[in-house]
Amino acid sequence: MSVEEMWRDLAPVGRFEATGGYRRYSYGAAELECRAWFAEAAAARGLSLDADANGNLWAWWGDPAAGDAVVTGSHLDSVPDGGAFDGPLGVVSAFAAVDLLRARGFKPAKPIGVAAFVEEEGARFGLACLGSRLLTGAIDPAKARALSDGDGVTVAEAMASAGLDPALIGRDQSRLDRIGVYVELHIEQGRAQVDMDAPVAVGSAIWPHGRWRFDFDGEANHAGTTRIEDRVDPMLTYANTVLAARKKAKLAGALATVGKVICEPNGTNAIPSRVRAWIDARAAAEDTLASVLAGLEQATHERASRDGTTVTVTRESYTGEVAFDLAMRGRLAGALKERGFGEVPVLATGAGHDAGVLASSVPTAMLFVRNPTGVSHAPGEFAEMADCLRGAEALAGVLEDLAR
Ligand code: HGY
Ligand code: MN
Ligand code: MN
Repeated sequence: MSVEEMWRDLAPVGRFEATGGYRRYSYGAAELECRAWFAEAAAARGLSLDADANGNLWAWWGDPAAGDAVVTGSHLDSVPDGGAFDGPLGVVSAFAAVDLLRARGFKPAKPIGVAAFVEEEGARFGLACLGSRLLTGAIDPAKARALSDGDGVTVAEAMASAGLDPALIGRDQSRLDRIGVYVELHIEQGRAQVDMDAPVAVGSAIWPHGRWRFDFDGEANHAGTTRIEDRVDPMLTYANTVLAARKKAKLAGALATVGKVICEPNGTNAIPSRVRAWIDARAAAEDTLASVLAGLEQATHERASRDGTTVTVTRESYTGEVAFDLAMRGRLAGALKERGFGEVPVLATGAGHDAGVLASSVPTAMLFVRNPTGVSHAPGEFAEMADCLRGAEALAGVLEDLAR
């Protein structure tokens, strides 16, 4: 089955007609359909399917028990109204690379695995890369089980509804021991490659990044009868915090985004009792990120004291800087050069990936496929099919070099 055919089968799954964006939330109907698609793609190639206790999927070419496997893949879940390529491109390309290698009669000397990690976006349960964090022991299983979605459904409940036993989640040493190296192909989430006219690039690093929840608490009251001077309005403190986040990030050359806000009780004619907002912040260096957050927390508490409100800041997710394995980087660049890709650019990214989490346990690397507009985490995310095919060729070359 060609890349185009795989893409055609997967594209409609979880696509929200009104926006053209994807709503593939872990263990929800659309994501379960993506899992079924993964199982079919594996079966169609005679790959052995392995659904691990943490909710991750693996498809094996060869016996993984042999160890030192070359694993490639990405994720199938999306952010709310995300694009078609973020995640699925890496999984489709992995299956396509297996097809290309087989068509050439390649016989791998090591097992080759295709992986799909669960809840990479953290869109349902709030913690990015949950599946790879569980695999590597980067999160306490009890804490993971208790994570809940906007309806109060916990990870444990969602897993159980999908037929998994949440009691079994946690570091999976036997599966980690199988992996020799991990290579993730991903659509570029930016537009550096357009400017370099480069269809394929190699990843060098992932910026430190995290998510902080700010709870602004005030006093609910009537919008029409409460004098301005009598108000204790959390929306005011929240609004000033958003402005402060943008200013501090800009001054530090960092990034800060508020994309998710919950107002309680959310009535047009009532001063809110609480505003809950999440700040996604990232920077090229950890000390820069830490100073942006420290400055922001100070600013928001100062504002709260003026407004009479209170603010509670909770760090919900954090990933330190990841520098991909230098030897792997060189190996990929060499393999690509040998196969007619020339000198491919090496790029750092501000986007988190399972490769960044796995890097703590196994040598990892990333390949990026050109994104003509740079848009991602939005319905407009797009990559030319020619570049996707080039990416699959590049991945096949890298797997051939690593698994020979
Ligand atoms: O948020 C990220 O950087 C990634 O897409 N999960
Ligand atoms: Mn993403
Ligand atoms: Mn992604």
